[in-house]
Amino acid sequence: MLVSMKAILDDANKNYYGVMAMNSINMEMARAGITAAEEEHSAIIIQFGNGQMTNHAHLEEMVPLIKELAARVHVPVALNFDHGSDFYAITNCINAGFTNVMFDGSALPYEENVKRTAIISALAHGMGCSVEGELGHVGQAADSDDTDVDLYTNPDQAADFVARTEVDALAVAIGTAHGAYPKGKIPKLDFDRLHLLKETLKMPLVLHGGSGSGQENLKKAVAGGINKINVCTDAFEAGKQATLKALKENPDIDYMHMCMAAEAGIKQFVKEYMRVIGSSGRYIYGEAVVKSNE
Ligand code: 13P
Repeated sequence: MLVSMKAILDDANKNYYGVMAMNSINMEMARAGITAAEEEHSAIIIQFGNGQMTNHAHLEEMVPLIKELAARVHVPVALNFDHGSDFYAITNCINAGFTNVMFDGSALPYEENVKRTAIISALAHGMGCSVEGELGHVGQAADSDDTDVDLYTNPDQAADFVARTEVDALAVAIGTAHGAYPKGKIPKLDFDRLHLLKETLKMPLVLHGGSGSGQENLKKAVAGGINKINVCTDAFEAGKQATLKALKENPDIDYMHMCMAAEAGIKQFVKEYMRVIGSSGRYIYGEAVVKSNE
């Protein structure tokens, strides 16, 4: 079922577990994520950003598809616009039925970030759509931004930001970065800062740049209060590797079976991820009660 991202993350916040937010750019990825969620009895957040939406995952095609897939399952599914920065793109997503939008003003001066996030927040909330903001800046792994402490989130400033913007979830910079890290590198996360942020804010916190973090970091991040983990690079890689394997095993494979192999590979990846971050098994409803009409 399609629900607001706030509904998913409030439960995760209350019960200290993480939910996967997978960038999904086509039917195979969205279906892999949503069917994995159903089988794992887990919530899932399906998302894509502006570049992905412009290049491939067109809003008009993806929204009806995701609504249809979500309506078939009995676990919560949210649809999030990732890293929105353009007012028109964000409002288009709200109008189209996204159940969360992220406004990423993290590269703006602080007051401008507050001002723009607060406007989006008021608009989205008026439409029943929740909002994620970002403070501090999660940059690029290729630029080693993960080690730039100046970009990390300041807990006192974060308290002011949340009070003035009324965001439902906050993306924090604690030592991850977007994209692939140099081979062999595992990022070092600032868990003391995370604990302070959680203690101060007591709200759903988001980890961007989840790919390449390693299981140990992910588990510690969730235990420290991260409730949403954004994953793009690793999910794309799971699809790519499954396709390459299928092609290697059978060089005559046709396109449909390549797509099926990619979907199966991503689904398996998502299921394993859900177990690591603790979202599996959160939505088991017990024995079905069958009522007669008599
Ligand atoms: P990765 O590609 O590093 O997983 O980052 C994804 C992300 O944070 C999307 O917002």
